[in-house]
Amino acid sequence: MIIMPTLHCKPGMKLGRSVYSEQRQVLARRGFVLSEGIIRRFHEMGFPFLHVEEEGTEDITPEQAIRDETLIVLHSAIALVMEEASAPGRESLSFETVRFCHDAAAMLVNDLRSRKDPVCLPIHLTTMMQDGGRRQFAEHALNVAVCSTRTAIEAGLPGEELIALAMGAMLHDIGRLRTREGQEGPAALGEDDGAHAEAGYLLLRDSGFPLLAAHCALFHHERMDGSGYPFGVGGARIHEMVQWVGIVDAFDTLVHGRIDGRPMLPHEAIEVLYAGAGTLYDFDKIKRLRDRFALFPVGTVVRLNTGEIGVVSRLHEDNKQRPVVRVFSHADGSRVAKPFELDLKRHLHLMIGSLDGGKAPDPSPACGGAGLKTANVEQQPEKTAAGARREPVTVGPQWRRYWGKDWFQFV
Ligand SMILES: [Fe+2]
Ligand SMILES: [Fe+2]
Repeated sequence: MIIMPTLHCKPGMKLGRSVYSEQRQVLARRGFVLSEGIIRRFHEMGFPFLHVEEEGTEDITPEQAIRDETLIVLHSAIALVMEEASAPGRESLSFETVRFCHDAAAMLVNDLRSRKDPVCLPIHLTTMMQDGGRRQFAEHALNVAVCSTRTAIEAGLPGEELIALAMGAMLHDIGRLRTREGQEGPAALGEDDGAHAEAGYLLLRDSGFPLLAAHCALFHHERMDGSGYPFGVGGARIHEMVQWVGIVDAFDTLVHGRIDGRPMLPHEAIEVLYAGAGTLYDFDKIKRLRDRFALFPVGTVVRLNTGEIGVVSRLHEDNKQRPVVRVFSHADGSRVAKPFELDLKRHLHLMIGSLDGGKAPDPSPACGGAGLKTANVEQQPEKTAAGARREPVTVGPQWRRYWGKDWFQFV
């Protein structure tokens, strides 16, 4: 299975995961065969990526940072908070909503605790919200919550504090719904002023959220050298975990192009953060972000600097930024006769050039040969356009474990 940009999906491809509406209804179940009209409709509805089945990638299981159940509950909690927070004259959130947020955060913590491997930066989390501004807000909230919480788990933050941090990370920008700037539309998400930090803090505090959660809203734009806002406090006065929320917030903003509309590649965003390491951000935290998190999750379709297109098939424990890529398309868009793997850790002249599957392979053998069928193929290493050695692909049976369980029964 691969994670394909929606617009690059081809008619005839099968969904690898079900697609849900904002009302939690199944729009299309796993196995649904895409048509041109459906692809266009999903794109218009704001689904940037789709999980699609691809022959020859059965052994590749894109890992989600959290379960679909948890994603839907978190999504509901955010939607509920957004509705109440933006209601005119409302001073605080209802007890039921706070409780729901707590339970959703507890689910998130449980999910992330059960993962042994580092969390993938969840650039593929989408929220089914059809309004662009609300969707952008909710996706940002989810991304920051998942990454910050995972980091806090690794740092050993105990029980209830962890849940408080998860809630605070999820609602760190909730103040935007209380300020004039925040209500003017999605573009305001990249505009920075202190008003939303203070408004968010007051809302969370007055609603009965733990103080750590409220501090996430208040301090997430503060920086180590005191150049942040709203107060310009620096260094040790920013809670260790809230510093993480600030870093992940900045990263997610860069990766999704929320400032100038130009989305950066994850490693480009890391470079930008590195430029501020030691001044704006704690140096060790930026280094940890780079070393521990997988910037290119397994299943992501990527284009190499050679123009070849493939899918991230494996991550290296000691170098997650240079994964193994299974190439299925030449630079000119034609299919390779048999997919081969390139280990970017070994071939340092290769790098991921973009996250696009622009010229996706047609799975039909009629369109260029043997498709991606590579099971048990003994393939001689051969040279690629870049001069790197191709490695034979062996598809194992492990993917069946994934399909053996239907995650969507609960709907
Ligand atoms: Fe913010
Ligand atoms: Fe933010």
